[in-house]
Amino acid sequence: MVRLLSFIYPITKKVKSEFNGTLEITWYNGKKHLNTKNANYSYGSLQKILKTGLQKINLSNCNNVLILGFGGGSVIKTLRKDFSYQNTITAIEIDPVVIKIAKEEFNVSKFNNLEIICDDAFKFAEKNDRQFDLIIVDLFIDTEIPSSFYQISFWENIIKACSSKSSILFNASLDSKNDHEIVNIASFLFKNKFQIERLDKVNNTNTLLIAKR
Ligand SMILES: C[S@@+](CC[C@H](N)C(=O)[O-])C[C@H]1O[C@@H](n2cnc3c(N)ncnc32)[C@H](O)[C@@H]1O
Repeated sequence: MVRLLSFIYPITKKVKSEFNGTLEITWYNGKKHLNTKNANYSYGSLQKILKTGLQKINLSNCNNVLILGFGGGSVIKTLRKDFSYQNTITAIEIDPVVIKIAKEEFNVSKFNNLEIICDDAFKFAEKNDRQFDLIIVDLFIDTEIPSSFYQISFWENIIKACSSKSSILFNASLDSKNDHEIVNIASFLFKNKFQIERLDKVNNTNTLLIAKR
């Protein structure tokens, strides 16, 4: 019923979160989305944006994926359904309210081989000693990427977490912001023997950085 009504007008449930302010679970045109006050977090334009990035990456030899910024888990649905990727996924999310929403509203528990860790991605990257074939960095608070994720010290830890055949997909900004920081990170990754591709205005909004070994 809610799904049908959502074709006529959007139906929204609001949930308060310490990290993300007011989160909105919105039924719109028969589909459920996770939004903040000013941004789509999951299952809307964000999902399309990450899919565009993933289309540039060869997942056939990929054995494990790290996702920094789990949100409602829409990229997991994309990996499993659109790319038939069935191997291990480790997802890091700072906000326990977001994880609860992902489980209760978006049923992410149905996905096999998925480990969800509630932690700050910056701290996780500092102490992590595992290596991954694909790392997706999708860390936003509303429309902003916290400044620590533009620091080179964070990217040094990301490189340590890369296997010898690793790719990185960085959802690097909204509305062409932070160009200087993105150029700096691209140059750092290039110096560390990654091939770099930058996609601007993906879905008319986001900048994606793709790095491949
Ligand atoms: C755009 S959403 C992620 C969407 C998700 N990748 C998907 O596919 O649906 C950004 C997420 O980053 C999380 N986040 C922001 N800062 C973080 C941090 N320091 N550590 C871990 N997660 C963080 C937010 O709580 C939010 O859930």
